Amino acid sequence: MTARLSVNINKVATIRNARGGNLPDLIQVAKDCERFGAQGITVHPRPDERHIRYQDVYDLKKIVTTEFNIEGYPSERFMQLVLDIEPTQVTLVPDPPEALTSNAGWDTIRNKGFLTDIIGQLKAKGIRTSIFVDANPEMIVHAKETGTDRVELYTESYAAHYLADREAAIADFVVAAQEAKRQNIGLNAGHDLSLVNLRYFQEQIPNLLEVSIGHALICDALYLGLQETIRQYLQQLQ
Ligand code: PXP
Repeated sequence: MTARLSVNINKVATIRNARGGNLPDLIQVAKDCERFGAQGITVHPRPDERHIRYQDVYDLKKIVTTEFNIEGYPSERFMQLVLDIEPTQVTLVPDPPEALTSNAGWDTIRNKGFLTDIIGQLKAKGIRTSIFVDANPEMIVHAKETGTDRVELYTESYAAHYLADREAAIADFVVAAQEAKRQNIGLNAGHDLSLVNLRYFQEQIPNLLEVSIGHALICDALYLGLQETIRQYLQQLQ
């Protein structure tokens, strides 16, 4: 099985917003990512709209032809947005509004009631759901009980320790992936995945369905160009 590549285009919006105009053109970049082979587009609209704006999400909905994945904390405003847009997938992340980036997975025990309610609302609209979790089998067991289709493993610790000792870095993720398989729950992954660490992750986690990658991919595109960058990421996933 080959995991699918969803390109997170938040960073493209960050560059655009730096000057207030429309350069780079987020919509064109999303179209080009798809043209170059990406199998999905991911965005993470935040309450302060510091990168992806709520209007961007409506504009993207009109042109994304692959999988559209919207990540975020399920605030009232976020839920209104995603229930209106009906993307392919909504990935729920627990980060507070001021967080620089997602920095932890959900505690699916403490938040089970809340998540179950949110997942129910999304699934009633036919939207696939994913819950962002740390590589902890207990969190996956309890995620399953919310009714979610998938979990997304938070890969920051894997990426941080990959170069020092990749066997140790992947160990918790292998255990978590086995638990996801046992629970019959789909498995996504993301955060700090890159051309350096992606292939080994995919090799060690055979039930991986999708990765969402933003920061490193956009940085690589500065040197390699977007088309060549996407080609190389897809090759890592072969
Ligand atoms: N998955 C989630 C839930 C995220 O919040 C992010 C960052 O927006 C990513 C994946 C992608 O992480 P990165 O930009 O490090 O590739």
